[in-house]
Amino acid sequence: MKTIIEPFRIKTTEPIKIISREERAEALDKAHLNVFLLDAEDCCIDLLTDSGTGAMSTAQWAAMMLGDESYAGSKSWKNFEKTVQSITNIKHILPTHQGRAAESILAHTLIKDGDIIPNNSHFDTTRANIEFEGGIAQNFLCAEALDTEKEAPFKGNMDVDKLHDCIKENGAEKIPFCMITVTNNTGGGQAVSMENIRLVKEVLLRYNIPLVLDCCRFAENSFFIHEREEGYSGKSLLQIAQEMFSYADAATMSCKKDGLANIGGFLICNNDKWAEQFKNLLIMKEGFPTYGGLAGRDLEAIAVGLMEALDYDYQIYRNATMQYVSKRLIALDIPIVRPSGGHAVFIDAAKFLPNIPALQYPGIGIVNALYREGGIRSVELGSVMFGSFDDNGNELSSPLELVRLAFPRRVYTQSHVDYLIEVIETVWKQRNQISGYSITYQSQYLRHFTCHFEEVS
Ligand code: F0G
Repeated sequence: MKTIIEPFRIKTTEPIKIISREERAEALDKAHLNVFLLDAEDCCIDLLTDSGTGAMSTAQWAAMMLGDESYAGSKSWKNFEKTVQSITNIKHILPTHQGRAAESILAHTLIKDGDIIPNNSHFDTTRANIEFEGGIAQNFLCAEALDTEKEAPFKGNMDVDKLHDCIKENGAEKIPFCMITVTNNTGGGQAVSMENIRLVKEVLLRYNIPLVLDCCRFAENSFFIHEREEGYSGKSLLQIAQEMFSYADAATMSCKKDGLANIGGFLICNNDKWAEQFKNLLIMKEGFPTYGGLAGRDLEAIAVGLMEALDYDYQIYRNATMQYVSKRLIALDIPIVRPSGGHAVFIDAAKFLPNIPALQYPGIGIVNALYREGGIRSVELGSVMFGSFDDNGNELSSPLELVRLAFPRRVYTQSHVDYLIEVIETVWKQRNQISGYSITYQSQYLRHFTCHFEEVS
């Protein structure tokens, strides 16, 4: 087979500033050793997130010029609604300015104090929105996901038995809805099989509990089902996505991922009563239901982007990048989550730095070393992001300590990726010099965004 090439050529470029090692060390100190607080222009290759960081296509830019900025009932809204409906076949479509706005409306409308919301793994904003309403966010991820080195096709699957036990123990009335996140971002960007979605839905149907898909990376998940699940290789990614959504009663979406747009999201549902309640909040918080906090041109860009994300050639190329990075890292014996995720490669920080305890945040050690060494910005998905506290205020660690290298869509080329691998290799060879960290300042919710660190000597 020949090399899989980028299925696009570059028409506009954006310069990358490369600052010196000393400047990087200074910048990181100024950012209180938290890469979220760095200036983006001080990052040479920014793999902090794949969210809103993608490059738009010529078709998207052209569509933006057709943006209809009417307050109500714009043509752009009609395009957006029609496209989302053609993929999901879900009745009510509510645009939002990004994914967490959809989560907030969903959570505020449906969650009562003490309610339980199961998921394969909640993303941090999803969990925060649920907890903010007094709900309890529970993860029922399949056991094999915890074995980071095991190669299995669907490590994003939910543990259906655990879900069932939770329903039996707590009663269906305590569970206003159940979620599945595709792909499972916090568990390594892993795929969820169609079979798993179907089985979860079967259990939920018995108890009349609705299923809400967190579908930010629905197209990448459709690609994995196409490649890995029996019976799907002959289907288009659109058909696979349509089947996935056929099991959902509602969905929250961040169009900053598989919408291939820089901003946007949606909340969709079939239930008329929910839609009515969602709309009231939407108008109050986001905007009129035909724009929901977005400009007409954003709605146009998303409508085109959602379909481009379902293009097989695009997904093959995207996945080839992840596979290339992971193969090279595995060849260097660097511990990573296998298989590589749909949008990111995850380093297993606990194995990379076995001498640093979870509550000294090994992931932060790697993140900061990658920045100092090569100006690479990555993100910790471990005890800083997902740690919690017990009733006595003791800090609890996260089951996994990961560092995520998330790839913006259609942005970086092969040589960027080769440079990245060289930087990781250097950090790996010098890993004994990496120290643990402690937190010197943190906020009540989503502490990872703003906390300050200190190195533990
Ligand atoms: N759900 C998942 C699975 C996500 O990955 C994200 C965002 C959201 C919901 C929230 O969407 O950012 O549009 O409000 N994830 C980004 C990330 C931020 O870096 O993984 P949003």
